[in-house]
Amino acid sequence: MRYAVTLFTGDGIGPEVTAAMVRIVDHVTNGTIDWEPVLAGSTAVAAGLTPLPNAALDSLRRNRIAIKGPLQTPVGKGWRSVNVTLRQEMDLYACVRPVETLPGPAVTRYEAVDLVVIRENTEGLYTGREHEVVPGVIEALKIVTKEASERIMRFSFEHARNNGRKKLTIVHKSSVTPLSDGLFLECAADVAEDYPFLEVETMQLDTLAMELVRDPTRFDMLVMGNLDGDVMSDLCAGLVGGLGLVPGANVGNGHAVFEAVHGTAPDIAGMGVANPIAIILSAELMLRHIGEATAATAVRSAVKQLLLETKVLTRDLGGTASTKELTDELLRLIDLNMEAN
Ligand code: NAI
Repeated sequence: MRYAVTLFTGDGIGPEVTAAMVRIVDHVTNGTIDWEPVLAGSTAVAAGLTPLPNAALDSLRRNRIAIKGPLQTPVGKGWRSVNVTLRQEMDLYACVRPVETLPGPAVTRYEAVDLVVIRENTEGLYTGREHEVVPGVIEALKIVTKEASERIMRFSFEHARNNGRKKLTIVHKSSVTPLSDGLFLECAADVAEDYPFLEVETMQLDTLAMELVRDPTRFDMLVMGNLDGDVMSDLCAGLVGGLGLVPGANVGNGHAVFEAVHGTAPDIAGMGVANPIAIILSAELMLRHIGEATAATAVRSAVKQLLLETKVLTRDLGGTASTKELTDELLRLIDLNMEAN
């Protein structure tokens, strides 16, 4: 079976890590993916286009699946986050980030973290409703609707059921925003009634921050609003060794965009030293999503083996390897495993 996949090459380290990912995916799928590269972000603007050109959106609408390198958001002025616009435009309402301790060299304080962060991706403070009421006073509106809260809860409970998760922690700050977070909690309680076999707890955001640092292994699945999920999923990435290792997916009804948690890493862009593992593991999620489980497992096994058994590591993992050297080593391990099987 052939698949067409939209490829946002991204800004900063994006082209470097997506090129590495394409080499791996082409190898494990025997070239059955037809990549459709599209421009967005500062690369698109530099080419005289808008930050999110229609060609990119059309490609995703057509193919339904995309892998995305990170896109730069200018601070203060320029253009609105393309990441946020893309999620809203395509209604990619659920952001899924599996956070798992990988074997090997990543410096972590914890063993055996294995949790999933699910973040509502379309509303909260991210609808961009911010304005100056009078000089010196800015108002930013947080939008929470029953419809979006119910569907993220339904998605989360279904995801838990389908992926062997046992317990959901619904995160809120209802002590400060009782109406909006209260609605979020109400929707969780309503949907939970249909899943009596899953354990559910609620937790204030600040308590979660402390508990995650104390013992992240007690969590199984975290369900959060947009801003809380944005912040906490980076924190969770830190718990398992950093941004270079954690993949993610933005899922809607019929469309999905897979991307690493990290950004464009301007400090190392163009140097050929970025760690491509996070986007490669995002590709693993994509392969599972499209039903290519064998190829997905080949990717994951090689990544684990690389981390555990080799010293071919990028700088963020304490090594000296380039992006290309790490990718070459992954390809070698994939071949070795194929021969052994
Ligand atoms: P960042 O994730 O780009 O970088 C933070 C630190 O982590 C830097 O020291 C960087 O070198 C390191 N790092 C990140 N990814 C790495 C990798 N794969 N290998 C090795 N080291 C890595 O976060 P920052 O600096 O806050 O954001 C830079 C730009 O990225 C901003 O314009 C931001 O808006 C954008 N961004 C885009 C995202 C996306 O497209 N999904 C997500 C997060 C940020």
